[in-house]
Amino acid sequence: MTLRADEITPEEVRALADQFENAPLEEILEWAWARFGERAAVGTSFQGAGLVMIHHAVRAGLRFPIFSVDTQLLFPETYELRQRLEEFFGVQIEWLLPEQTPEQQAQELGPALWKNKPDLCCTLRKVLPLQRKLEQLAVWMTGVRRQQSDTREKTRILELYHFDVLRDHYILKLNPMAPWTRDRVWDYMKQHGIPYNPLQDQGYRSIGCRPCTRATDAGENERAGRWTGFDKAECGIHTFLGESI
Ligand code: ADX
Ligand code: SF4
Repeated sequence: MTLRADEITPEEVRALADQFENAPLEEILEWAWARFGERAAVGTSFQGAGLVMIHHAVRAGLRFPIFSVDTQLLFPETYELRQRLEEFFGVQIEWLLPEQTPEQQAQELGPALWKNKPDLCCTLRKVLPLQRKLEQLAVWMTGVRRQQSDTREKTRILELYHFDVLRDHYILKLNPMAPWTRDRVWDYMKQHGIPYNPLQDQGYRSIGCRPCTRATDAGENERAGRWTGFDKAECGIHTFLGESI
């Protein structure tokens, strides 16, 4: 069930966000578990920050449900990584699927929609499957980090997210990794032997769908390899659905 208006006020969200700035990751996760239990769930694209968060949760015995949107256009390495992670953490990761397969989409809207209309493609294959999931939750936990890009530098650790403007539905968006730097994430990953995408070692620092991801140079921001050639920096799950308050 999505968040009810009487469950938390915007003032409390702001106060908690301030308080979490100086709190250890465990403490933030424990707050979410104590207050919302399984109505708080982790959405992951199997990148470093999300995996560090899952590692902390599993070690603390906090059994948040974990899900990932499968656009059905991911890299083979990503599908293989999901399996390794389920074994490593001893968890199940739910796949969220679009309504149409890529083939059905091509028949209806033309081939390679991502080349002509990437916003529409992301909406159908990522945003809408996620939105359907958020309807069942009170808290969406993400691995978004401020350092990732200009569009993310103002991310708060706790935000009220207006994810369905038409039905006026809100959810709490918990971004406990917001202050973490890339180096801190990867030091932690290595220290704990957490499985990661082998594409990371080939210069891919942000990994999404196969047609829209390329490797990046050290001088570029880490999400510069997404949607090269388009005026597009976000798939929409963090922006299109609605505003963060
Ligand atoms: S993306 O939105 O452009 O794909 P990125 O890969 O940097 O973002 O991931 C940022 C956060 O968005 C992840 O930590 C995760 O919480 C969420 N996210 C991104 N892609 C997915 C996905 N396919 N399934 C679930 N959550 C995702
Ligand atoms: Fe489509 Fe590219 Fe968006 Fe994936 S990232 S859903 S292929 S436009």
